[in-house]
Order: sequence, then C-alpha cells, then structure tokens
Amino acid sequence: MQKITKAVFPVAGMGTRFLPATKASPKEMMPVVDKPLIQFAVEEAVAAGVTDMIFVTGRSKRAIEDHFDKAYELETELELRGKNQLLEALRNVLPKNINCIYIRQAVALGLGHAVLCAKPVVGNEPFAVLLADDLLAGDPPVMRQMVDAYNFYNCSLLGVQDVAREDTASYGIVASRPMAERLEQVSAIVEKPKPEEAPSTLGVVGRYILTPRIFHHLENANPGSGGEIQLTDGIAALLSEQQVLACRYNGVRYDCGSKIGYLRAMVEFGLTHPEVGAEFRAYLDSRNSRAPA
Ligand code: G1P
Repeated sequence: MQKITKAVFPVAGMGTRFLPATKASPKEMMPVVDKPLIQFAVEEAVAAGVTDMIFVTGRSKRAIEDHFDKAYELETELELRGKNQLLEALRNVLPKNINCIYIRQAVALGLGHAVLCAKPVVGNEPFAVLLADDLLAGDPPVMRQMVDAYNFYNCSLLGVQDVAREDTASYGIVASRPMAERLEQVSAIVEKPKPEEAPSTLGVVGRYILTPRIFHHLENANPGSGGEIQLTDGIAALLSEQQVLACRYNGVRYDCGSKIGYLRAMVEFGLTHPEVGAEFRAYLDSRNSRAPA
C-alpha cells in the first residue's frame, strides 16, 4: 500500500467574497490572529505525514511562495535585535524536510481542473487535497484522522459534515450509508444541489484523499456546476469503479471562505491565543456587560 506523502492545495481562486482585501493579496494569506489560512492547512498536512506540498497557484499569488520561503533579511534583522521568539516562529513556518512545489493554473477552470494541474507532480500515487478556506480545528488534526482511515481502508475518502438543508447549494453533497464509526460508504455525490434535490444533508468539506485514478476522470470530465470542471464530478465517475468513503471527522469547521465564518474563527482563535487570549476575553466580557439587555 502506498503512503500519503503528497498534498495538493488549490490556491488559484480569486477570493471575490473578500474584496477589496483580496484585490492584490491572496485570500489564503488572510490571517486568523497571526497565522495565514494557508499555513493552518500546511500544518494540518504536516501532522498527517505529508512531505510534499503542491500548491496550484495563479496570478497575484506570489505572497504564498514568499511565505514558505526563507526570509534572510528578516531573520538577520530579528537575530540582531534579539527577537528570538519571533525568529523561532518565522523559522517554524516550514518544518525541515518539507518540499514546496508550485504549479501555475493559468486559467481558472474549476477545482477539478486545479487538481488535474497537479498530476505531473503527483504521478501514480494516492494524495491529499486541502482547501485552505476550510479551517478545521481537530485533535488529532482532521487530515491525520483521514490518513489513518486511508491506511486501514486503502481507498479514496472525503471529509464530510452535516449541513443545513437550505445550504446544500454551497457544497458537494453525498448519498451514503453508515459503515463504521464516523465512516460512510458513498453511493453518489452531487455538486451544489438545490435543497429539494439534495440526496442528503451530508456536505463535503475541503478535505479529500484521492487515488490517482481520479486524474483519468478529471481529464474526461465535462464542465459541470457553474461551467467549471468540478472535482465532485470526477469523484462521481470514480465511484463507478472504486470504493469512496465519507469521513465524519471529529473537529470544528470554520468556513473562512465566508465573512461570518472567518469572523468566528478569529474570535475562537483569539480567545485561545497564548499571547492575547486573556486580554481579548476580558475585552469581550467588558463589552458584553456594556451591551443593553
Ligand atoms: C468546493 C467544492 C464543494 C465542497 C466545498 C467545501 O466548493 O466544489 O464540493 O463542498 O468546496 O468547502 P467551493 O466552496 O469552492 O465553491
């Protein structure tokens, strides 16, 4: 059985929901307190044993490459000023023995197309996909939970959670039946169905483990929902040949692709932040006691 050592991060999206903040900088670089979303996703992949980080990037995304690069001038400056803690944080952005590989997706043809762009690097191996928009807080980290399940079942897996019926049009939705604790056997998957057409309310979040056979189906996929090559459609085709499992991960999801989800993440991570958590809590408490009944 092949181990999961590669993860694909599709980061070419335009991030229109956060304009003007994302006009000149990538949405994946938006921080939750002091850590950019993409770093949360990379740390989750590292915790799952991934060593090769494959970013499918696009125009105006250079900041992501710079973020995971060494910052000589900054490090020298911090060293000179004796700012050792900051220096440590900077050096820990990318642990040792981790490779970053960047591929440009010249045209934004959809998530399925972005994943297909990684084929020359992924080759004939199973791999993970992480969407940095979905910030997942889990212990163990969610991709770790999924890789553990992969190591046991040796098949494709989708991270899923229950969503509100009125929200099905924002997700890939699966039809499935329970198989083991937290695992479902997927029988169908549809991209962004209307509430009345959704086969269930089990929505796919931005975590996938896929067998390399997915590339064959993405190569042959027609534009689907929104006129884009959808990863969901590739998975639907994969289902006709291979087992796909849905993993009801243990953890909390912050949909940082939406303003409200991003704000929630900021509050929760702010409250537990080692440096500012206590002060932030005191601030929120004082604010609440001021608020009219
Ligand atoms: C993408 C996928 C969708 C999935 C979602 C999770 O949609 O196409 O199937 O449920 O991510 O966040 P997007 O949110 O990029 O429109």
